[in-house]
Amino acid sequence: MMKPTFTPPRRLRLAQTPTPLQPVQRYSVAPGVRLFVKRDDLTGSTLTGNKVRKLEFVLAEALDQGADTVITCGGAQSNHCRATAVAAAMLGLKSVLLLRTPDPASPPPLDGNSLLDRLVGAELVWITPEEYRRRGEIFEREALRLKQEGRKPYIIPEGASNALGAWGYIQAMAELAGDLPRLGIPTDERTTVVYACGSGGTGAGLILGKKLFGLGIRAMGVNVCDDRDYFVKAIGGIAEDAIRTYGLPVDFDRERDVWIADGYVGRGYALSRPEELTLLRDLARAEGLVLDPVYTGKAFYGLMGELAKDPARFGENIVFLHTGGLFGLFAQAAELRPLL
Ligand SMILES: Cc1ncc(COP(=O)(O)O)c(C=O)c1O
Repeated sequence: MMKPTFTPPRRLRLAQTPTPLQPVQRYSVAPGVRLFVKRDDLTGSTLTGNKVRKLEFVLAEALDQGADTVITCGGAQSNHCRATAVAAAMLGLKSVLLLRTPDPASPPPLDGNSLLDRLVGAELVWITPEEYRRRGEIFEREALRLKQEGRKPYIIPEGASNALGAWGYIQAMAELAGDLPRLGIPTDERTTVVYACGSGGTGAGLILGKKLFGLGIRAMGVNVCDDRDYFVKAIGGIAEDAIRTYGLPVDFDRERDVWIADGYVGRGYALSRPEELTLLRDLARAEGLVLDPVYTGKAFYGLMGELAKDPARFGENIVFLHTGGLFGLFAQAAELRPLL
């Protein structure tokens, strides 16, 4: 590993790390390919998933700025919002969550992530998809309201996906660089990390991390919403901002370096097809490894699709990043039940 010449921002310790890297024993993805899972679903019970790694950096800044309330946003079953609300409660902060729903006058019943949001005391502000598209304004409106109430708000963007949040997965890549040799996995192009891509921060961190630590491994994102061009731009923007802000010594080119496997959004964000849920069920039964329907289940389905097209692109070793999302399963129980 190259010796780092940069200084990471201050970080809180919220996640249970290092997370395990485990071989998948029975489920075979392709002949001659070894599959491993980096268990970032084990970063915590209610904090489960990738967001808590980003929040370690983002919430450190919120505390340093003297904030007493954090505001963030996401879908009705946002894992990011749930992780933020739980972490905020752990730190004695209040949280306000802008949650997207077709009809804010009759929001979905509290379930899965949103149940936990309220359990830890988050204030839920339901907004329409149209309002969500101009969430910058809504963030400002809510921040102003809180200031008028004498509070000190700190805004966390969707998914904590900004230059600061990207440190979560820069740091995770350093962790992985330590894990791989212990399992005899090469840190060069014979190894590919596969991850679900929702707002781009995880991808940006992984790509920056592999470059910063001189690893040749590849990183493929499977987008669960939008399309490849959207994520090349989103990940590219976050990575370039981080390079500028923190003076990172990396050579980054968004078109060359961002690898997105498009074509697996299916019915749309947070909507599942039976074939995706069937794969999720089969993996759960073969390995006791439970993915979520919105992110990791779709990413795994995408991985299988890409392997069927061209296994040689991946090398002999695949590390599937389990980014959590377990509570999202319960919100889709009605679709899962017929398959069980
Ligand atoms: C379980 C899970 N996996 C993956 C992602 C995608 O990560 P990112 O938003 O950093 O692209 C998210 C959030 O969007 C998530 O909740």
